[in-house]
Amino acid sequence: MIKIAITGGDGLVGSKIVEILKADENFDVGAILEREMDIANRNSVFNTLNGLNFDVFLHLAAYTNVDKAEIEKEKAWRINVEGTKNVFDAVHSLNKNFVYISTDFVFDGKMQNSPFFEDSEPKPISYYGLTKYEGEKIVQGKGTIIRISYPYRTKFGNKSDIVRNIKSSLEQCKSLSMVTNSLIVPTFVDDIAYALKKFLLSKKFYSKIFHLVGANAISPYECGKIIANAFDLDDSLIKPTTYEEYFKNKAKRPQFSDIKSKNNDFYKMGGFEDTIFKFKDEFK
Ligand SMILES: NC(=O)c1ccc[n+]([C@@H]2O[C@H](COP(=O)([O-])OP(=O)(O)OC[C@H]3O[C@@H](n4cnc5c(N)ncnc54)[C@H](OP(=O)(O)O)[C@@H]3O)[C@@H](O)[C@H]2O)c1
Repeated sequence: MIKIAITGGDGLVGSKIVEILKADENFDVGAILEREMDIANRNSVFNTLNGLNFDVFLHLAAYTNVDKAEIEKEKAWRINVEGTKNVFDAVHSLNKNFVYISTDFVFDGKMQNSPFFEDSEPKPISYYGLTKYEGEKIVQGKGTIIRISYPYRTKFGNKSDIVRNIKSSLEQCKSLSMVTNSLIVPTFVDDIAYALKKFLLSKKFYSKIFHLVGANAISPYECGKIIANAFDLDDSLIKPTTYEEYFKNKAKRPQFSDIKSKNNDFYKMGGFEDTIFKFKDEFK
């Protein structure tokens, strides 16, 4: 039995991880919610974790609003950098394994630097990306870093994602501007959770970086077309636009976020054309 403690266990990604690990008898999962422990409060973190019995700590809690992070810089830093340091230090002092969930937004997304593997050099271009990279630096060499990219899932009321946003707009016959000159790797959250489960079961807690990302990069425009096709929605509602135009008044995102893995040799991640049908099946 592997005892897991997790922060961010009620979030978009974390709640699916909790669901999938809980369904497996090899795991005993305890989610620590924000109301029980504010990760930015060092005393609260040490007090809570000292009283917990766990083998592996999964750290997902984060300030995740990419656009607002440009304005609420202090808050984003407090949660993503100081918060990560608090939980990492507490877990490290207990000599337990630490897994930090990070993002493709640590990279600059410049075409000449792509694709981005685990050993590519991070160069964040947004404040959110910077804080997540600062979090990585705290963990690097002493724990596992798992980078994920554009996670999407079914049935999660608290927060939407790129796939449900597009699907819902098309269902309401709203026209959509989708970027053609950019690349993203939408990743089915179930794949992330099953890959993580496989990694945890291997009990090989290398101090290493892993990219748990979908099998292929596509443009947001192609992403929209694939969704329309999978759900028999009107794809003429999807209009092409450029990266420059779409992100004019928003935080910068990596333009060519073609993120790939050299280190994930334990779980085959699906390509978007396939996982979209698994996503569709879960709706039934
Ligand atoms: N979603 C994405 O597109 C994406 C892409 C790449 C990487 N990631 C990374 O994946 C992880 C999970 O992202 P997500 O989208 O699932 O997150 P999310 O749905 O936005 O949820 C954030 C989680 O963090 C918790 N949290 C926030 N501030 C906290 C604090 N001060 N103390 C304790 N808990 C706090 C929230 O708790 P409450 O609900 O109680 O507030 C919530 O459980 C993050 O580390 C994120 O950086 C996400």
